[in-house]
Order: sequence, then C-alpha cells, then structure tokens
Amino acid sequence: MNGDIETVGVVGCGLMGSGIAQTAAAAGYPTTVREIDEEALEKGLGSIEKSLEKAVEREKMSADDRDATLGRLEGTVDLEPLAECDLVIEAIVEDLDAKQDLYGTLDEICPEETIFASNTSSLTITEMAQATDRADRFLGLHFFNPVPVMKLVEVVRSGSTSDEAFEAAESFAKSLGKVPIECRDTSGFIVNRLLVPYMLDAIRAYQNGVGSIEDIDAGMELGTNHPMGPFTLADYVGVDTTYKIAEIMFEEYKEPRYAAPPLLRRMAQAGYHGRKTGRGFYDYSGDEPEVTDFVKTFGKG
Ligand code: CAA
Ligand code: NAD
Repeated sequence: MNGDIETVGVVGCGLMGSGIAQTAAAAGYPTTVREIDEEALEKGLGSIEKSLEKAVEREKMSADDRDATLGRLEGTVDLEPLAECDLVIEAIVEDLDAKQDLYGTLDEICPEETIFASNTSSLTITEMAQATDRADRFLGLHFFNPVPVMKLVEVVRSGSTSDEAFEAAESFAKSLGKVPIECRDTSGFIVNRLLVPYMLDAIRAYQNGVGSIEDIDAGMELGTNHPMGPFTLADYVGVDTTYKIAEIMFEEYKEPRYAAPPLLRRMAQAGYHGRKTGRGFYDYSGDEPEVTDFVKTFGKG
C-alpha cells in the first residue's frame, strides 16, 4: 500500500478492468469496480473469480488470500460508490466520446482530491482531461494484458499533471508489484507506438502473400522468442480494440504505418473480435486454434 492512495475504483470490468481490479484487491486495496449493467458485472466478476481459482490451483495463492482478495472487491453498476475512492482507474471501451462522457459525470461525483487515471491504449490524457476540472490530477496508468502477469505499467503525465499526482500513481503501480515507466502524453505512449505498427504490418504481410497466418505467427514466436505471434496477440488483445487503437493513432499521426488494413476493419465490423468472441484470426472452438474461413477468404489482397 502507499501513503496517498488507500482505496481504488475501477470503471469497466472487461478484459483489462477485471485484471486491474483483481490486481489492486490482491495487493490489499479495497476496490470498487463498476460495469454498465448487472450482466456485464457478473461476467467480469466471474472472470476474476476464475482467475483467482486458477492461481490457487497452481499454488500461486492460498485459499485464504483468494478469499481476502474477493472480500476486498465490491461490484456495482452505479457511479456514486466511486466517490469513496482515492484513485479511479478507467478501463472502458477505447472511444473518446464514451470516455469523456464518463469523466464529465465522475468529475461531478468525486471529491476534488480523487486522482483519475485512464488505461487507454491510444487516446491522449489531455483530450480526456478536457471533460473535467482536474487536469492536474489526471494521468495515464496503462497496464498490459494479462494484467496479473505483465510487469509493466506506463505512467503517463500530460502537460498539466501535477508532480504530486504523478508520484502517487507511480508509487501505487510499484505497490502492485509492477514496474512503472514514465511516458509523455503522446498517442500510443511508448509500447503501442512500436507494437501497433508491428501488428498491422503482420496483417499487411499476410495480405501481400508473404506467408500464411500460422507461418507468420510461428516465425515471430520461434525466430524472435515472442510468447505469441502477431495474429495470436491481436486475438488476445481484441480485434475490435486493435482496430480502434489503429484508427485513433492514424488520426493523430496520419502516417501509413498506423492505418488499419481493410481486413482488420472488416473483422471488427463482422464481430471477429478474437478470443473474447471465440473467433478472430483463429477459431477457438476446437482443441487447437484454426484460422477462420473469414480470414482465409477475405484475407489475401
Ligand atoms: N491471469 C492470471 N495469470 C495468468 C493469466 C491470467 N489471465 N494468463 C496466464 N497467467 C499466468 C499463468 O498462471 C502462468 O503462471 P506461472 O508460470 O507462474 O504458473 C503464466 O502466466 C504463464 O501462463 P501459461 O503457462 O498458461 O501460458 P503461457 O506461458 O502461454 O503465457 C501469456 C501466457 C503470459 C499470456 C504469454 O503468452 C504472453 O506473455 N503473451 C504476450 C502478452 C502480451 O504481449 N501482452 C501485451 C499486449 S499489448 C497491451 O496489453 C497494450 C495495449 O494497449 C493493447
Ligand atoms: P473490453 O471490451 O474487454 O471491456 C470494456 C468494458 O467496459 C466492457 O465490459 C463494457 O461493458 C465496459 N463499459 C463500457 N462503458 C462503460 C461505462 N461507462 N462504465 C462502466 N463500464 C463500461 O475492453 P478492454 O480490452 O478491457 O479495454 C479497455 C481499455 O483498456 C481500452 O481503453 C483499451 O484500449 C485499454 N487496453 C486494452 C488492452 C488489451 O489488451 N485489450 C491492453 C491495455 C489497455
């Protein structure tokens, strides 16, 4: 725990929000997590329970610690309980309007000391903070997927973020056992600025007939020791999220390397969102992932 932040709020309990809420609660923070409706909340809390159960099975966590972690977690569909939190971390969909709407309401509900942190992949802190009167207490805490495992947190300061808020957030990240790196407020921060063009290039390589989906993945896994090839990674991150990120970065930089290839856009539109929908570049319904017909037929340019 750290001196400034004693209670944590998380908005969004999807892929990232569930991991952030789990990690904060496991580190000892009373944590309130908000979803848009009961169904989404139940799904998110269910995935936290499953993840903690796995940790117990693998003897990474005792059953007592699992129970204590769950005891520190409070789920809600209301925003008002977030007024009790010293730090609110937002992990909702990657969409500026949705985030600004949320921040505008949160700004009215939360005391002025509350620090707001976004887990955005590609939006800037400056544009989100515009919806509030607390640009000095607004920053980025960019976690990586899967949150309980990945060590890095990008701590992002805008031109308006105060030293005090930045230091509190950095020390919070350390208290979770993470390694913080400091980033300036540019779209994609450090990691996605490099990672996103790589993933998009893999799609372009496939569409240019350089190799099959499986061989490009195998090439990057076996040839560079990446734990996952680029297509498996895009399915893991979410094809819809990867597409949104590319669109936002392209809008910001107007550089072709950030442009979403048509295949990525079609997949996002058609609901091929990756692991979370059971199919993306691969279909996950069988024993082994298999490249989807959608990608095979639509794929080569
Ligand atoms: N929750 C908790 N623990 C998990 C987990 C989860 N969701 N997934 C895996 N783990 C743990 C396992 O329990 C296991 O722990 P131990 O070794 O201590 O037993 C360990 O992670 C390895 O897991 P597995 O053996 O099941 O699987 P693996 O070796 O294939 O690793 C992986 C899985 C960690 C996901 C690995 O494939 C990996 O690192 N992939 C790349 C992930 C990556 O690049 N993430 C960044 C995405 S980009 C991003 O996040 C930013 C953005 O803005 C889009
Ligand atoms: P996701 O689609 O899995 O989850 C988003 C969740 O937010 C959904 O469950 C949705 O119901 C909920 N939501 C939407 N509006 C809400 C609101 N107003 N209040 C509460 N909940 C709301 O998406 P994700 O992958 O978890 O991404 C969330 C954020 O994290 C995005 O900004 C994304 O760019 C970023 N991010 C994603 C990854 C990744 O690998 N997927 C990694 C790092 C950062």
